[in-house]
Amino acid sequence: MQRKLNHVVIIVKKQPVFLDLTKIYLPVTALVSIMHRVSGVFLFLLMPVWALITAAIVFNAQLSPLLWLLVKITLFVSAILYLYHLSAGARHIVAEVAHMHTLSSSRTSAWMTLGIWVVLSILFTLRVWL
Ligand code: HEM
Repeated sequence: MQRKLNHVVIIVKKQPVFLDLTKIYLPVTALVSIMHRVSGVFLFLLMPVWALITAAIVFNAQLSPLLWLLVKITLFVSAILYLYHLSAGARHIVAEVAHMHTLSSSRTSAWMTLGIWVVLSILFTLRVWL
């Protein structure tokens, strides 16, 4: 039996667009993961800045107090980013070595990563600023 269609109906499915980042729920594992990538990208982008700062220090460049403050803040932020990246990187390595790939162990290690990072950051901050 042959059916003739007089009308062609095109259904356009509208995908939901929800870009209010403040309202998107991210599980802790996703948050730790995205922060790892973001910190890695920032560390990479900061590399030439470290080179310039190192050169300025090694060649005894005369920098104004304001510029020195900027250098200190840049290095401080770099160190905090690095401590995060290191903690999250260690999480990956431990998970690989110890074969910890379940959801609950991922959640636990994600919280541990955040905890270790906060503790290391506080210790570092106290050491350099006080
Ligand atoms: C200045 C030094 C570093 C830079 C610039 C850097 C940069 C990056 C970048 C850009 C990524 C993201 C790659 C992607 O998601 O496609 C990444 C991932 C990664 N980094 Fe680093 N990294 C540095 C140091 C370290 C250190 C010291 C560790 C060891 C603890 C480490 C462990 C990792 C691991 C395991 C990943 C993979 C994460 C994943 O698979 O989701 N990184 N790194």
